[in-house]
Amino acid sequence: MNIFEKITALAKRRGFIYPGSEIYGGLAGTWDYGPLGVELKRNIKNEFWKSMVQMRDDVVGIDAAIIMNPKVWEASGHLASFSDPLVECKACHARFRADNLGVAEDLFKVAAADMPKCPSCGKKDWTEPKQFNLMVETYLGVVEGEKTKTYLRGEITQGVHVNFKNVASSTRVKIPFGVAQVGKAFRNEITPGEFTFRSREFEQMELQFYTKPEEKESMQWFEYWKEERRKWYLSLGMREENLRFFEHPKDKLAHYARAAFDVEYNTNWMDPDAPAGAGWKEMEGIHHRGDWDVKQHQAFSKQDLTYFDEEKKERYLPWIVETSGGVDRATLFFLMDAYREEKVKEGDERIVLKLHPKLAPYKAAVFPLLANKPELVELAKSIHGDLKKEFSVIWDERGNIGKRYRAQDEAGTPFCITVDFESLENKDVTVRDRDTMEQVRIPIDALQDFLESKLK
Ligand code: GAP
Repeated sequence: MNIFEKITALAKRRGFIYPGSEIYGGLAGTWDYGPLGVELKRNIKNEFWKSMVQMRDDVVGIDAAIIMNPKVWEASGHLASFSDPLVECKACHARFRADNLGVAEDLFKVAAADMPKCPSCGKKDWTEPKQFNLMVETYLGVVEGEKTKTYLRGEITQGVHVNFKNVASSTRVKIPFGVAQVGKAFRNEITPGEFTFRSREFEQMELQFYTKPEEKESMQWFEYWKEERRKWYLSLGMREENLRFFEHPKDKLAHYARAAFDVEYNTNWMDPDAPAGAGWKEMEGIHHRGDWDVKQHQAFSKQDLTYFDEEKKERYLPWIVETSGGVDRATLFFLMDAYREEKVKEGDERIVLKLHPKLAPYKAAVFPLLANKPELVELAKSIHGDLKKEFSVIWDERGNIGKRYRAQDEAGTPFCITVDFESLENKDVTVRDRDTMEQVRIPIDALQDFLESKLK
């Protein structure tokens, strides 16, 4: 099994992520987050918000509508050019993008004789390449035939840019400043796959940072945000050797873009025999968008979106540095990065998720040593009741203690707290560390401070 298959199996087994609408045979490119997945994903979004909004004086947040006036997508260029070229196999009707066929070049430039065989059926009989728009259409209104065609947003970005003027005039921010947002986006991906990596419904966490329209200053901000975002992943435990930047070649940049880098994650880290470089996947994009978005919205809405700079005493359209991360991709890669298969002793292996305590779905599990001893259950329940006021903690009394430890290892729970007979007399408990498997005695009234210290 490769790492994608291992994580998919673990995610389902433990309740992180399930295939969408599974009992009806599923729906390609959709996923449902289970009880552990929703906690993990929420922790990632909360950490993003904390570092990008709460801790900063120059960034504010927004939560814009998913469905927008369709003119937004004309202005942003999504209706005209948000598309992928694809070919269809005439024999089995499977459709592929160039990268799914291992073709490095633009499909429009590849001669029929140089096309590879169909990965699905092995034949080599392709249609001409066609552009395929990725926007998901929807219809608003109650009267059939009079409904307005609109779109589910293909990126969360435009909800910020159409509110640039609102935010600048209703808050105290001054350029340079940023607007952060987290929310769902939808793309009619031709080939969804690799678990949640390429989904049709997914979440993004973004910052749109507005700067003066000056080359030097905006590029300094670009470099700054590039490094900040890398440091954010590292601060939550992602291993440095599994992260790298990929610079988009200048000739492949959108015409308005001045620079673009991806933060990539190495999905091949467990496989020393994998071909070098093959496992690096985009997790987040850092883009210098010039004044493209605001300029387009100004032209299409016919509203003055210029900003009055009090210091310079002049009006201008700001330039934009964007950081655009996928919440689902971050969730997937944090899971992969934390995944370990460890030999505990001869004939005894465990799977453990070494998630950073800030991201772990449950910070601790609380157990009575024996579920049939009411005095142990009562004390354990009161500890669980106290801790859950402050932390996400889980109760477990199923099976033996060894099985409970292994289940919590797979859930990524950093600490297991066991109430035993000594606890009744000494008012302390055993706390087992997920990563080292060491056990220490901690007074019951020190548990809260102990967990707090681990979440800093
Ligand atoms: N506003 C810029 C923008 O949307 P993008 O590179 O198309 O740029 C940004 O998307 C991020 O959104 C990607 O780096 C990725 O993490 C996430 N993303 C994009 N398409 C996705 C998909 N189909 N499934 C899951 N995540 C996706």
